[in-house]
Amino acid sequence: MITTTEIAPDIYRISTYIKEIDLQFNQFIIKDSEPLLYHTGMRRMFPLAHEAVSKIIDPSHIRWISFSHFEADECGSLNEWLEAAPLSQAVCSTVGALVNLSDYASRPPRGMAVDEVLNTGKYRFCFRPTPHLPHGWDAGMTFEETNRILFCSDLFLQYGNREALTESDVTDRVRDALVKYQSGPLKDSMPYTSKTEPLLQGLAALKPKILATMHGSSFQGDCEHALYELAQVMREVFGGR
Ligand SMILES: [Fe+2]
Ligand SMILES: [Fe+2]
Repeated sequence: MITTTEIAPDIYRISTYIKEIDLQFNQFIIKDSEPLLYHTGMRRMFPLAHEAVSKIIDPSHIRWISFSHFEADECGSLNEWLEAAPLSQAVCSTVGALVNLSDYASRPPRGMAVDEVLNTGKYRFCFRPTPHLPHGWDAGMTFEETNRILFCSDLFLQYGNREALTESDVTDRVRDALVKYQSGPLKDSMPYTSKTEPLLQGLAALKPKILATMHGSSFQGDCEHALYELAQVMREVFGGR
């Protein structure tokens, strides 16, 4: 089941709920003169995701395709999207471009340096590398400066078919999800290192107004506080390993 919601001006959340695993996979379309797709979704999701995007913009007009780290839900259908949008280019961390996309992507990617900004017209996307947060050497987060939205990938993961955007504290949901992960086959999903908290503090310092999550509701409110709470939860759940 796919639902589409405009969570901020020109920012659309396309959510696919997979009942069997009780998890949402969220993609974001940013409508601008150079439209940007954030998270491609998995290859098998492509036909339905493409149809959902076509209700917002002409998918062939997508100019930028971005994501946090190399994983099936983040960029599995990258090449399908590159084919569907002939002028599009993948944009990710420098490490991601060098290590993964230089080979995987059907066209050369654009790797972004620390805090480098991509201007799509009205909107500005600042790229922040976050190695091993949530996971993967190539991981990064993207901050849209105009709407103050942090595209935070697997951070703030929540189970369930959740509302698109909430102003209620999601910390308990996130703790429950990470504890559940730790007790099953997907344990150790996020490494907890000496850099985890400084990276989260760096994201908190951006003072986002919205956290755009891949799994679960996006959160609108005191995101600086939410990121500090997430650091506490990650320490509780992963810190003692
Ligand atoms: Fe991931
Ligand atoms: Fe994910």
